[in-house]
Amino acid sequence: MRSSLATYLGIFASVLWIGCSGPKVIEPVPNTSTDSVSSVDVVEHFTQGSGIYVRENCANCHGEAGEGTKRLGPPLRNLGEHWDRARLETFLLDPGKVEAEDQRLDELKSSYWGRMTAYPLAPEELSALIDYLFSL
Ligand code: HEC
Repeated sequence: MRSSLATYLGIFASVLWIGCSGPKVIEPVPNTSTDSVSSVDVVEHFTQGSGIYVRENCANCHGEAGEGTKRLGPPLRNLGEHWDRARLETFLLDPGKVEAEDQRLDELKSSYWGRMTAYPLAPEELSALIDYLFSL
């Protein structure tokens, strides 16, 4: 399981690496490896995801490493239990769409003071952020 996930991420990160021509927010980690699909690419993908998490202030409500805060936002652990990629994308782009039909989120909302707002991220940033979230 772990190794197939790592392979998937490796391929994904390298496709992203090749296809990514837009401005980079996070300075890439220098690639000192001679492998074509290297673990450095995967690390960079996660670095980008965690960088977006910090840049967008997710940590203010959800904690530095997704452990949650007492009042503002729930922990972001084991998200795979409740989310698939597509639904999580929709949620981050437009939380109201998903919240309206999800009783669990509705209950979470009443337990915390924070509110999710829309995060209109570019597809490649959204993808890196979601990989990071699933890794927490
Ligand atoms: C102002 C506080 C606040 C900020 C900032 C915030 N969130 Fe949230 N988040 C919440 C609250 C409160 C909930 C509970 C459900 C709801 O309100 O929709 C939540 C729910 C979530 C969930 C679903 C959790 C679950 O148990 O299924 C995810 C995933 C999530 N947030 C990710 C993020 C990410 C990623 C960012 C930054 C891009 C972010 N949040 C920014 C407050 C916040």
